[in-house]
Parts: sequence; structure tokens; C-alpha cells
Amino acid sequence: MIEQSAFPVEPWHVRETRLELDLLAQSESLFALSNGHIGLRGNLDEGEPYGIPGTYLNSFYEVRPLPYAEAGYGYPESGQTVVNVTNGKLIRLLVDDAPFDVRYGQLLAHERVLDLRAGTLTRTAEWVSPAGRRIRVRSTRLVSFTQRAVAAIEYVVEAVDGPVRLIAQSELVANEPSPPRSADPRVAAVLEDALVALEQDAHDNRAELMHRTRASGLLMAAGMDHVVEAPGPVSVETRATADWARSTFVCTLEPGQRLRIVKLLAYGWSNLRSRPALRDQVAAALTGARQTGFEDLLAEQRTYLDEFWDGADVRVEGEPEMQQAVRFGLFHVLQAGGRAERRCLPAKGLTGPGYDGHTFWDTEAYVLPVLTYTQPQAAADALRWRHATLGLARERAATLGLRGAAFPWRTIRGQECSGYWPAGTAAFHINADIAAAVTRYRSATGDDELEAEIGLELLVETARLWMSLGHHDAEGVWHVAGVTGPDEYTAIVNDNVFTNLAAAHNLRSAADAAHRHPGLASSLGVTAEETAAWRDAADAVHIPYDAGLRVHQQCAGFTRLPEWDFEAHRDAYPLLLHAPYFDLYRRQVIKQADLLLAQHWFGHHFGDEDKARNVDYYERRTVRDSSLSACIQAVTAAEVGHLELAHDYAYEAALIDLRDINHDSREGLHIASLAGVWTALVAGFGGLRNDDGVLCFSPQLPEGITRLGFTVRWRGLRIGVEVEHGQATYTLRDGADSSLVFRHDGDEVTVTTGKPVIRRISTRTPILPRPPQPPGREPGRRRASERSSGGD
Ligand code: BGC
Repeated sequence: MIEQSAFPVEPWHVRETRLELDLLAQSESLFALSNGHIGLRGNLDEGEPYGIPGTYLNSFYEVRPLPYAEAGYGYPESGQTVVNVTNGKLIRLLVDDAPFDVRYGQLLAHERVLDLRAGTLTRTAEWVSPAGRRIRVRSTRLVSFTQRAVAAIEYVVEAVDGPVRLIAQSELVANEPSPPRSADPRVAAVLEDALVALEQDAHDNRAELMHRTRASGLLMAAGMDHVVEAPGPVSVETRATADWARSTFVCTLEPGQRLRIVKLLAYGWSNLRSRPALRDQVAAALTGARQTGFEDLLAEQRTYLDEFWDGADVRVEGEPEMQQAVRFGLFHVLQAGGRAERRCLPAKGLTGPGYDGHTFWDTEAYVLPVLTYTQPQAAADALRWRHATLGLARERAATLGLRGAAFPWRTIRGQECSGYWPAGTAAFHINADIAAAVTRYRSATGDDELEAEIGLELLVETARLWMSLGHHDAEGVWHVAGVTGPDEYTAIVNDNVFTNLAAAHNLRSAADAAHRHPGLASSLGVTAEETAAWRDAADAVHIPYDAGLRVHQQCAGFTRLPEWDFEAHRDAYPLLLHAPYFDLYRRQVIKQADLLLAQHWFGHHFGDEDKARNVDYYERRTVRDSSLSACIQAVTAAEVGHLELAHDYAYEAALIDLRDINHDSREGLHIASLAGVWTALVAGFGGLRNDDGVLCFSPQLPEGITRLGFTVRWRGLRIGVEVEHGQATYTLRDGADSSLVFRHDGDEVTVTTGKPVIRRISTRTPILPRPPQPPGREPGRRRASERSSGGD
């Protein structure tokens, strides 16, 4: 865990006031910068010490063997792993004859600040070399949102109390040593020297290296250029070899004098373009960045982020920690997806090597809901990326003996990379999650064009998959057997409620979309009989219910399985590392929100009392071994009136990385949970729902939050919502004389531009008392503050 004192709470910054070497890997993830194309972990400028070095290019991967002890038909044979590419962050410094290294000499002060409005990471250090030479270093790093191929570092060294001779070595390093990524030597070997040198060039202050991955055959180029300022002469030398390039700057400073180096970086990769084309692209990006200059790169970055925050900021009054955390979360969501542009959006973004850099359902189910209401064009691009992998998904379905398209559970490029069938390929719900993201995007933005461009085909092919996965029984009831829902501790089940409702929604949405685009649909071979069959299946879908307990069953028979001994496993989390899957699978123990996610997404299918009983039942059995759970449990708890419990969950989702709650932030951030903070606040306490194309709010605040403000983009307009205890104010921000009809607590309301409307909030009284969680698994805020239970 990271103590709160390590990062003081500030509304727009994440500040580290002293360097904690034990937390270096975690802070590298927290301070990672990315624009969705380039990702730079927050490694120290001089490269060492490090936790995990990391420089990533979205979708640049190596293929590696997926070894199985026992093979089986349809198992993917190779996996994909994100590559730590050429490191351009490095600037090593020699002060007289001593390398600037925080482990030697005396570090008098060290501070790093991630500025969420400026989009920069700034570091200041004051250091005395072992020989007694004192310097100040200040570096400011950015990965440009406006010039997608560009990153830049301003590096300033000042002599403090005596003359110093400085030698700064600014480098590009490929195949840099890293901690081993896999315990399997076959896999580790592939990843160790992933890049094969192709060509290199060095002249003046500039150098370029070009490499190719050994097996996946992807080309990449990295280039650097420098602008140097110093009061006296600076000698410069640039060299390049196969795996490194180095520009060396030598100068002498008197006390108070400064050496300033602006290092410009450009990256490009391709699986199609030729070497000269890639080389030229990187050269052009460098020239463009040089012409812009560091100050203007900063200014562009600020303008881009101002625009983002104007439409996406969430203001939380009464709880400064949550305020900081929600902005930190939104910033990283933007970094992961803002300029990913038809590339994937990995579960860790480009912040670390965790999960091999793979993309899961996290994208469509957790991140796209946020992007759809805040940065809709980024959501559209993420869906375009999925569509670009449709051919591979069709092939996968065919391999599995199914119709339509089966999208991969985890992937970088589109091929299935999950080697574990029960919590991989069997999680077919990912297909319906993609379909839900398509329909959500259309109803929230009103953009019909994307449906014609890619949406219809995604809906049709996933609907076809469901028709071959599901079946009607003798009574005509439609079932989906043998699949895994979101809860990975209950695998290969029949009639998982989430999957069934999502599949039914997928089928109906496909039929509706085909109806809207008859010509396109018929070009995809869709007939009236086919859409009728989709609607029949959706109408006949089976939703298992335990009439005795009066709760929904997560899947058929779930509530009749033996119970799990939570008390005996109190200290054994995550359970998957301490108990055999065999035992987890056959008992009522739940990894993450599953039935509760169904309740959030498909609320119409659940009555108010069922919702309350379901929350009560599933809360007691959910252990949250996945970071995808807390935010959804926040929403479902809030909906049934357990506002303090919801608050506790929102806190856990929000602080997942800033406090390293799951002890794994070193490998990269939990982008789904960071997006989920928005969902916990906006859908949980704001009550945002998209009810078949009608925008709804049902706000209600927990005690500790005095005011919550957020903005939602809806059909080209921005609607601002300010929630206080007792009332909500709605403001339409765009359009000269536009108006918008929405629902507040179920009542229709019209808001017109410039004329805010205020509505009273009625208190939601819970039907049941606050439910307990499995012992030791109470949500984070409660654990953090060691409060006793109660409150709602
Ligand atoms: C969760 C999945 C999730 C994956 C990546 C797993 O632990 O169970 O639902 O997609 O992590 O975040």
C-alpha cells in the first residue's frame, strides 16, 4: 500500500515530495505519460534506479509461444506481448566526474509532479555529488496530445555553489535490460532481445534508430533531436550504433548558471509501410516538433487538456481525496484512449507491461461508457479498432464451429491470446459488450453514421454468434449454455444472467439496426427471417430466478451451490492464488460484479425489491479479487439506497492506484477502475442512465460529499449537472436556443440553453439494511478509516 502522505492531496496535481525507492515501480506507473500512441513510464531521467523500465507504442508487440501442458483443439498457439521499445527518455549526467544517481551523494530534495491540466511530469532535484558539487536539476516531460508521434523533455541543470563541469548524455537505447517478464524461459527468451537492429543514423544533435521485431516483423523507428542553451560554449558529439544512439553535451557552469537541453523525441511503427517511409515519418515529426518549440508544445498540450476538462471534469466537494482521484482517473483514461486512433486500449493503457499489454472487455464495458459521454470521437475510434479486427473474429468463430464473429477475450492485434479457456474464450459476453458499446454510442451521440460505417456489421456478426451459441428448449425458452460470465470464479455455466441479457440486447439491437439500414443489412446477407429469429430468441431468453430466496441466480443453479468458507480464507486474497479453481468454481464465491453488473446495465429487467434483495445476496459473496468490481458495486449500492456503502466502493475504485490498494500498480494502472470512478460518481450518485435513448438522472449524495458537479455530452450538447443535498441544477451549455428533454427521478424535464432548471431530490430509503461483505473484504474507505459499520 502507498501511504497517503506519499502523495499529498491536491485538486489538479499528483505530487511526490520525496523519492521512495521502495515505491519506484508504483510511481513509474502513476507518473506514466501517454497519448494513446506513445507511452512513457515515469522512469527517472537518468534511467537508474528503476522499478520497471518502460516505453511503449500502442499495438507494437512480439509474438511468443503459449506453452500448454496438455494441448486441446482451438487453443491459441501463440500469444502477443507488448514490447518495451527504444527508450528515448534517458538523459544521463556527469557532474565533474560523478554520475548523477540518486543512490549516491546526497539528495537534498526531490519532487515529482504530474500536472493534470498541463499534461506534464515535472521533476526537481537538488543533489550534492560524493565530491561535494551541488546542482539543481529540473526536467519537464510531455507526450504530446497534439503531435501524436512526439514526446519532449526539457532538462535544466543549474550549478548551485561552485563551478561544475557537466557532461550530459542524451540517449536512445533499444533492448535495454529489464526484470524478467515471465518465469517460463521460452517466453522470457523471446522478450529479452525483442528488437533486431536495421539501421541507424547520427548527425549534429540528431539521431535515429530503426528496429524490427524478430517474430511479429513489425518495423519501428525512434528519433531524437536537441536544442541546447548554455551561457558558454557547449561541445556536442552524436554517435549511433545498432542498439543505442547518444548525443553528448559538455559545458562548464559558474554558480547560478544553467544548461538547458530540450530533447525532442519521435516514434513511429508500421507493419505495412517501408523503411524509408517510416524513417521519413519520424524525421518529419522531429522537424515539426523542433519548429513548434518546447513552449508551444506545452501551450498546445494545455489547450487540448483545457478543452477536455471543460467537457469531462467532475467536481467533488467535501472529499478532496476523491476530487484528486477522479481527475487522476480521467486523465489516465484520456491518456489511454484520447489519441489511440483505431488502435486498442489496453487494460493498463500504456503505463506498464501488466497483462502483457492486452486489451479485454474492460474497453467496451468500463472505458467506453466514460469516453462516450466525455470524448465521443475517441469512443468511435475504439469501436473502429474492434471493427478492424472483425475478419480475425470471424475466423475464430469458424475455428470454434460457430457462426458470425467471436472476438478475443484478450489481445493486442485481434487474435485470441488467452491460453486459459474457462476464463478466456468461454467469456463470450465480450461480444455482447462490444454490441452494447455500439448501441450506447449511437443513442448518446445521435451519430447514425458510425452505425452505417461499422456498427451494423459488428451487431450483425455478434448476433449471429449468439444464435449459434444459444438454443431454444422444448418449451421454446432460449438458453445460452457452457459460457463464463464476468465472474471468473464461476466458470462454464448455463444461463449466466448477465450474458443472457447482454446477448438478448445484442440480438434486438442488431435487428433494430438492420431495420434502419435495410440496404446495408441485405448486403450482409441479413434476411427478414433472420431478424425475426433474433427477436424471438431475445424475447424468449431465460433469466434464472430463485423463487424461494426471491433473488436472481447469477447463473442456473447458482444459489443452490455449496457456500464458500469465507472465514477460513480471510487472509488468502486473491483467492485464485490460494485455492484451486476447482473449488472456487463449485461454490458460491464471486470474484467480481456479475449479476450486479446485469442489474446496472439492464435495470428494466429487475423490480425495485429484487434489486435490493440481489444487492443484499451478492454483496455477501463477492470478494472483489478484480479491480473491475468496486465501481459497479458502488452504482448498485447507491441505486438501492446504500449511499455510504456506495461511497466506500467509489473510494476504493478511485484510490486503486494512488494507494496501490491491490498491491499490483507496479505493473501498470487499472484503467477500467480509473474509468469506473467516473461511473461510480456519475451513474452512482448522479444516477445517470440511458434509458433506451432517454437521458435520465436520479441524483443522491452520500454524507461526505457536499456537492458533485459533472458534465455529460449528449447528442452534440453538453449538459452540466450540479448535485447538492436536497436539489440538483441542470444547465444546457451549448446551442443558441437548444432544448433537451430528460428525466429527473423519473419525471420529464426540459432544459433550454442559458436557463438552468432546479429540481428537488427525494431521499431514497433503503428497503433492506446495509449488507455485510465477506470478512476482511469490506470496501477500501471503510478499511482505510477503520470506521465501524452503519450509516445507511
Ligand atoms: C478480470 C477481468 C478483466 C481482466 C483485465 C481480470 O482479473 O477478472 O474481468 O477483464 O482482469 O482487467
